[in-house]
Amino acid sequence: MMLLWLVLHTAAANRGSHRNGQATPAPTASDPRVRRADALNRWFSMIEHVPARARPLEGWTVSHRRDIQGRMRLVTSGNAKQVLTGGTYRNQSIIVKSSSANHTRDKLGDAVHLELVYLEALRGAPGIPELLGAWREGEHVWYAVADGGRPIGVAGQPGKGSKATVLSSEFIELARHEPLKLARALLRCFRSWASAGFLLDDFKAQQFTLDGRGDVYLVDGPSLLRAFPVGAAVYRATSHHRQKNNLAPPPSDCATNADCPSTKAHHACGVAGDCEAGARGAPESAGLCRAGACVAVGPWTHVFDTASRPWLLPGVVKYAEDSAPRKVLDRVMSKARLADPAKRPTFDAMLAEVERHI
Ligand SMILES: Nc1ncnc2c1ncn2[C@@H]1O[C@H](COP(=O)(O)OP(=O)(O)O)[C@@H](O)[C@H]1O
Ligand SMILES: [Mg+2]
Repeated sequence: MMLLWLVLHTAAANRGSHRNGQATPAPTASDPRVRRADALNRWFSMIEHVPARARPLEGWTVSHRRDIQGRMRLVTSGNAKQVLTGGTYRNQSIIVKSSSANHTRDKLGDAVHLELVYLEALRGAPGIPELLGAWREGEHVWYAVADGGRPIGVAGQPGKGSKATVLSSEFIELARHEPLKLARALLRCFRSWASAGFLLDDFKAQQFTLDGRGDVYLVDGPSLLRAFPVGAAVYRATSHHRQKNNLAPPPSDCATNADCPSTKAHHACGVAGDCEAGARGAPESAGLCRAGACVAVGPWTHVFDTASRPWLLPGVVKYAEDSAPRKVLDRVMSKARLADPAKRPTFDAMLAEVERHI
């Protein structure tokens, strides 16, 4: 009981005294994405502090490792998370993840928390892997997600660098014969999270998978933008150490581009050598000052990105065998790559244009 009081009290204190005194935008309580993010935050706080009282959220079916069949093996570790494949649940292939075993990089499970917010807030949207459930083992929160297939490609190096991405054979095959369907799958995935105010700054091909049905998934939890409702709700509800990947709006005063923040180098591609040949970053991701104010990153930034990476729409065009779909995509991409974010199309508009030709 005492512990429960402490949890609730700390949450209230966090809401009241928000750092640097800046008001955060009011989240739209009617947005189901915000409601689900709130529910996830409450669950996470409970599982950390009073695990015995944590109840699975609606729709969660896996609540323990015993629910999973099969022999699981580690695919990655050494990063913030550990990722296991090979498990099944009701004959469906699943992926199991938790914070890193050695705890050094991600002591408090920030990466896991952020990814759970992403999966739960956007539940059911195209391109978001289904979260089957989460639980605690010792000091770690574990969770199970649907298998989204194989990565669409592998970047030349983990962070910034100019080595080319190698696209998967499945991506190339689909690009050859069904370019517009592949473009639609990519854009649907991007629309789901980018328009909800998530920002993928660890921007590389292996964060995306392609399954046997031709659907594309973003499998790694992206960062949040505090200027959008989900980011604002998470910012209010979580403690200070969880704010690292919840990005504040840029300063409103600037004299030059250097006064404005940049996203990660391998997303912004601001300096030669940051990104592979043919990749460009949106001007606002490298830091852009216009009329004395920094231009914010947002969904419009990822609109630019889809048209400016050899492993996204340009990769589809490169392999497409027919010229008609290539022309459609070239037209869509040229608008998406406009320097002025306000002139770029929305994901809805890009999708409408692609779908008109399917
Ligand atoms: N839901 C998933 N479906 C299929 N593969 C996945 C899924 N989640 C992760 N993976 C695979 O595991 C790799 C690492 O997972 P990720 O969540 O990106 O961890 P990290 O934070 O270490 O980058 C991914 O690049 C992908 O190949
Ligand atoms: Mg990853």
